[in-house]
Amino acid sequence: MSSYQDAFRQSVDDPESFWLAAAQDVEWDTAPTRALDDTQAPSYKWFPDGTLNTSVNALDRHVHAGHGDRPALIWDSAMVPAKRTYTYAELLDEVATFAGVLRDQGVVAGDRVIIYMPMIPEAAIAMLACARIGAVHSVVFGGFAAKELATRIDDAQPVLLVTASGGLEPGRTIEYLPIVEQALTLSQTPPHTVVVKNREQIPGSAADYKASSAAWFDWNALAADASPAEPVSVAATDPLYILYTSGTTGKPKGVVRDNGGHAVALTWSMRNIYDIAAGDVWWTASDVGWVVGHSYIVYGPLLAGATTVMYEGKPVGTPDAGAFWRIISEYGVKALFTAPTAIRAVRKADPDAEELKKYSVDSLNTLFAAGERLDPDTYEWATKVLGRPVVDHWWQTETGWAIAANLRGLDPMPLKAGSPTVPVPGYRVEIVDGEGKRVEADTEGNIVVRLPLPPGTLTGLWRDDDRYRRSYLDTFPGYYLTGDSGFIDDDGYVFVLGRSDDVINVAGHRLSTGSMEAVVASHPAVAECAVVGIRDELKGQRPSGYVVLKAGVDIDPETLRQELVAMVRDQIGAVATFRDVTVVEALPKTRSGKILRKTMRQIADHEQYTVPSTIEDPAVLEALREQLGG
Ligand code: COA
Ligand code: AMP
Repeated sequence: MSSYQDAFRQSVDDPESFWLAAAQDVEWDTAPTRALDDTQAPSYKWFPDGTLNTSVNALDRHVHAGHGDRPALIWDSAMVPAKRTYTYAELLDEVATFAGVLRDQGVVAGDRVIIYMPMIPEAAIAMLACARIGAVHSVVFGGFAAKELATRIDDAQPVLLVTASGGLEPGRTIEYLPIVEQALTLSQTPPHTVVVKNREQIPGSAADYKASSAAWFDWNALAADASPAEPVSVAATDPLYILYTSGTTGKPKGVVRDNGGHAVALTWSMRNIYDIAAGDVWWTASDVGWVVGHSYIVYGPLLAGATTVMYEGKPVGTPDAGAFWRIISEYGVKALFTAPTAIRAVRKADPDAEELKKYSVDSLNTLFAAGERLDPDTYEWATKVLGRPVVDHWWQTETGWAIAANLRGLDPMPLKAGSPTVPVPGYRVEIVDGEGKRVEADTEGNIVVRLPLPPGTLTGLWRDDDRYRRSYLDTFPGYYLTGDSGFIDDDGYVFVLGRSDDVINVAGHRLSTGSMEAVVASHPAVAECAVVGIRDELKGQRPSGYVVLKAGVDIDPETLRQELVAMVRDQIGAVATFRDVTVVEALPKTRSGKILRKTMRQIADHEQYTVPSTIEDPAVLEALREQLGG
């Protein structure tokens, strides 16, 4: 099969043969005889009678094929600084040993394990070790505070938590152990065991937590006594991981990923979307705490037998805006995948790309971007300085891999600034209006995907089928609601314009304004509030808080701002980047009491807007216009 059109058509006309053919690139314990199980529609299962082990596909099979000496993971920390390369044989050894540690601690298939780690190889090792024994990992991004960690612990109910003594951010160290201890105290269902990877740069060790409710152990001490664990064969439909992501409420959504569909889809994507084959060097500059890190720092490249680069550092300031170019030249990276915000940060620090002249980036074929819209300005700049294709592609935590992309390994197409190109095979993307009717080309609407979604996409929300259906399936029956709005042009190119709900995207990090509002509203001076994501030149969006004070409260606005910023930082984490607070007289609402956040954002972003006819008091909006900068 050569062309995109052929592949797409087959994927929708005959998904059985399309995905069973793709499944042949995966090593099964029991090969599936069927691709799709639609008996429980609108919930679907892929490869219902297949069994496999994901870590075997990521590691053992390459070693067995004679590639044990090939680099599997290159860790490069600009923060320590330090470098280390693991061959496939070495990584397998580490993973099997840590899987033995988990087994010795009583973790069995189906148990949940929380991984709260910085960007060190042990994060990937812990993930793969869970996969090896059939345990379900849930990685929590290191930038989240104790309360967010506790919320995820309470939902996933893990038996064990893996962490490290801390992370390194420019100019400061983040000590994880006090955060973990606090999260255990806040949690209703704390794990019985905590395993700590000690980093010599950061104080704190398992021994300091003898009085804790959980038993704390040192990673190295346990590993020294453990024998390697054999892989456990699991059903293709068994969960591989839960990854929490922001919804519109304060409670995160636990996206569940299966084993079989995930392995098939990611293997297919490495070749067809990214044009990466065994032995190629691939680098995703993201964090293992996000879906991009799960799919394309850890699983995708290893499933493909490629070499994955794991980078602890920032695009700028660690030490300079040449950091990305150094890594590409040092390791011969063939393709880099990062977020547009990172490219904007490099451009801001080094607009003429002077740093690039110091390195040879000849190995680089393509720069991939996702996580937020690749704005045309950034696209043009990156294309100009690199002289290579800069490829936007669009996806979400829920889908786990790209919904729309320019398929570089299948049929590279002309690139259009502002568009992630076309729907990926398996995804029947459509645009519908508020009533669920398809709209014409070039007309903006809700972006939906006709069911079933392809393999590798979410199988549900962890133990919350109701929310799964409400969030994604009920709005437009027969479709998956992406939560994004956009249009498809006459050539079939998809344009994603932004979220149609209250989820915001700050520096490529998906955050919920609802959870920030809950924190802000808990301040004793605040009667009510709205947090709105407004446009930010560097970070894409930034949260901006509008608060109404309780009657009779007299507080200096700057003092209030500082207190609210500290509260959000303490309860959600620094990553929320909450800095703006404006005290207002009243918030604009509909007659049913819904705050008009979208209209507020449109005014702040100087976008065209229509005042909803259901507005309770138009004068409130009028009074607010100036404060919103409109
Ligand atoms: N642990 C603890 N704190 C963290 C953290 C982590 N893992 N990651 C970020 N933070 C902190 C930062 O130190 C910063 O703290 P500060 O307010 O004290 O300065 C705060 O959270 C905000 O971080 P961020 O928005 O990331 O800003 P930054 O200035 O540190 O970096 C970029 C800016 C653009 C370089 C960075 O956001 C980036 O590389 N983004 C890409 C994101 C990405 O990969 N997304 C995944 C989709 S591809
Ligand atoms: P996350 O689940 O963190 O990956 O965030 C998913 C959301 O990020 C999507 O719903 C979009 O709003 C946004 N997003 C991701 N990639 C793109 C892209 N290439 N173009 C536009 N928006 C994107």
